[in-house]
Amino acid sequence: MVRSPFQRLASLLDGLTPGASPIDLSLGEPKSLMPPFLGPVLQEHLPEFGRYPPIRGIPALRQAIAAWIDRRYTILEGRIDPERHVLPLNGSREGLFSAIFPALARKPSVAAPAVLIPNPFYQAYGAAAAASGAEPIFLPSNAATEFLPELNKIDAVILQRAVALYLNSPSNPQGTVASRAYLAHAIELARNFDFLLFADECYSEIYSDAPPPGALETAYAKTGSLANVVVFQSLSKRSGLPGLRSGFVAGDPDFIVGFGRFRNVACPQVPLPVQHVSVAAWGDEDHVEKGRVLYRENFDFADAILDRRYGYRRPQGAFFLWLNMADFGGGEAAATTLWKGCGVRVLPGAYLAQAGLDGANPGRDYIRVALVHDRDTTRAALTRIVATLG
Ligand SMILES: Cc1ncc(COP(=O)(O)O)c(C=O)c1O
Repeated sequence: MVRSPFQRLASLLDGLTPGASPIDLSLGEPKSLMPPFLGPVLQEHLPEFGRYPPIRGIPALRQAIAAWIDRRYTILEGRIDPERHVLPLNGSREGLFSAIFPALARKPSVAAPAVLIPNPFYQAYGAAAAASGAEPIFLPSNAATEFLPELNKIDAVILQRAVALYLNSPSNPQGTVASRAYLAHAIELARNFDFLLFADECYSEIYSDAPPPGALETAYAKTGSLANVVVFQSLSKRSGLPGLRSGFVAGDPDFIVGFGRFRNVACPQVPLPVQHVSVAAWGDEDHVEKGRVLYRENFDFADAILDRRYGYRRPQGAFFLWLNMADFGGGEAAATTLWKGCGVRVLPGAYLAQAGLDGANPGRDYIRVALVHDRDTTRAALTRIVATLG
């Protein structure tokens, strides 16, 4: 069974004294980016906590989401129907987990269903496989594969059994961005073998240079259809609001109908005041750009302070460093050394991955470092890491 990486980290460091005042770089939790409209909008809608929210969300939220997709991906302008293509989520995690059930239900003839998961991966994908009984097929996503699964190496027998492929771009933990050609290949496989592409794009607004391409625009550009593709989005990273619990799923209208039915009996709604804040958040880009400026500056510190140590390369997207600790005894040993040596808390890469067919865990040599703090804290933490490891 999949276990929380953060519980495993707590066990690893339990009883060890930090070598300096702690700085937590283990969690991908944006800090101090609160958009200014949050309080006023919440205040205005407080009485609505007294009502059960509709699972499909209020029309204004579906419309704000569709309008955001229109603006972000120009080819989709006017193509996203708020009534047919969009469902709000209580954060993207619950959606990524629960979507596996309607994905399984739409392929009842498959005797031994499989779910394709990059390795390393966001642990909710593994939890979805475990809870649904679909066999997880872990696709190596390491330096040798340029940190994305090699789609052309997946066996046709496995593809026939697949009900879904999870794809995360920009990826956690490596920050890799899937190109349009790569996304188009994934969509072609999903359509040829009739499974769902679950495109987890929650880091799509956090990038250094160009906005990453999206799965919906790629699907539409290819065939004028969104069949077999849904994207999962979130205000947690984009708007720095992980505690709000608000996201959405959008895409294949047939799947959205089935998922909506399932959600109506099984999944959490988004509280109404939170829906109103979400309308404001999807409609505003200023606070998102402020976040990008902060992350770019944090990566500038990483460029300067880490230089080429630990296999560092500036990621194309998201806000993590994925550092090779093979010279320091591997990820768990390095995480322990850093905690004891300088109070910096980082996540061993092994906790974000599963052992592959060869028995080796592809995250074993790595640590994941989240650059989510303010500039001073980030600079201090990176300086401590280099001073401790050398
Ligand atoms: C790759 C990935 N997907 C999804 C999520 C879920 O985010 P949320 O449920 O806050 O939208 C996270 C959170 O860390 C993540 O890293």
